[in-house]
Amino acid sequence: MEHMEQYSITIDGRTLTAWEGQTIMEAAHDAGIYVPHLCYLRGLVPFGSCRVCTVKADGRFVSACTQPVTPKMTIENDSEELLDLRRSLIEMLFVEGNHFCMFCEKSGNCELQAIAYRLGISAPRHDYQFPERRLDASHPDIFLDMNRCILCARCVRASRDLDGKGCFDFVGRGRGRRIAVNAEARLSDTVVDVTDEAIDVCPVGAILKKRVGFKVPIGRRTYDLEPIGSDLEARRRPRAAAPTGGAS
Ligand code: FES
Repeated sequence: MEHMEQYSITIDGRTLTAWEGQTIMEAAHDAGIYVPHLCYLRGLVPFGSCRVCTVKADGRFVSACTQPVTPKMTIENDSEELLDLRRSLIEMLFVEGNHFCMFCEKSGNCELQAIAYRLGISAPRHDYQFPERRLDASHPDIFLDMNRCILCARCVRASRDLDGKGCFDFVGRGRGRRIAVNAEARLSDTVVDVTDEAIDVCPVGAILKKRVGFKVPIGRRTYDLEPIGSDLEARRRPRAAAPTGGAS
């Protein structure tokens, strides 16, 4: 097995051991320190697009999901400056799409909504843009609602790398950038299946399974009782025991 160096790093003044090749996100999560994230998901190649995981490493702003640790790295994760930056990014995501949480099947299980609650956002500081977005209900088991898509590319990476299908990809540029399916027009023309990994990784309500909406009652949904990241923080231990191949 390849020899890996152990590094001593600090996150918010707490000293911990990280492993050569780990990202800041992986080292933090191994130590039970929650770094908010949206496009990042354990098991997928890091994408670095949402910037919600921004931390300060040795005084520089970096995305924790893509930045490898270095020896003696000093990281700020929980400062008011970073929390406010993350609030601003989350608020932008809310106003750039159409997120009507009270009507959304994903409410209570949505990572965007849960991070907003954790960061104490009650209403965005920016004006809502109310963009026109597509719906695709053509597939018998899967519903696509682009009003809620935050362009995290989890479905793109999961379909390509885990399902080996490549059913989703980006098209367009700038404000016109959006997720498309690899068929002439509709999701039902692709080979996507409701059991695909790509269908489970959406952090918001852009990809939904049909006929299971609102199955879990309010009060028992993922983030009803504890804020997002609590499960990870509950695992907090003084030192990392082994390197991860990914993070949560
Ligand atoms: Fe790191 Fe999105 S989670 S950039």
